Amino acid sequence: MARLTIIKQDNPLIRKTSKIVDDFSPRLHELLDNMYETLLHANGMGLAAIQVGVLYRLAIILTEEYGLIEIINPIIKTVKNQRIDSEGCLSCPGISGRVRRPHLVTLEYQDRHGQKQIKTFHGMDAVCCCHEIDHMDGILFIDKLIK
Ligand code: CO
Repeated sequence: MARLTIIKQDNPLIRKTSKIVDDFSPRLHELLDNMYETLLHANGMGLAAIQVGVLYRLAIILTEEYGLIEIINPIIKTVKNQRIDSEGCLSCPGISGRVRRPHLVTLEYQDRHGQKQIKTFHGMDAVCCCHEIDHMDGILFIDKLIK
């Protein structure tokens, strides 16, 4: 495994829209494993591929309910309730602020083998999922701060 460089908010790449993943080969697994090492070293909760300069729709999240989750080509199927909570981002060091997010989110996504999965996430796990999916569309949490 290797640690990857996390790009910051001043890098224009972070605003790009990521592409659908259609290659579930060992190259993808290596990327996911390297992202995991990078996330652990950075002491973060989630990391989207775009944050390591790879423009594909995937992210990893350390959830409270399920442990490490790899979400590839995620689609939000259901959102319920709202919560306002403080967020940060490894691409925006030194910044935190309150954002409104769903309290429950059900995602359809693929795992690293391309198998379709459906899971429901609650609380901070749901917040994390929405934050990472935003990254896939070039959106940062600082765009959504509540004044
Ligand atoms: Co982030």
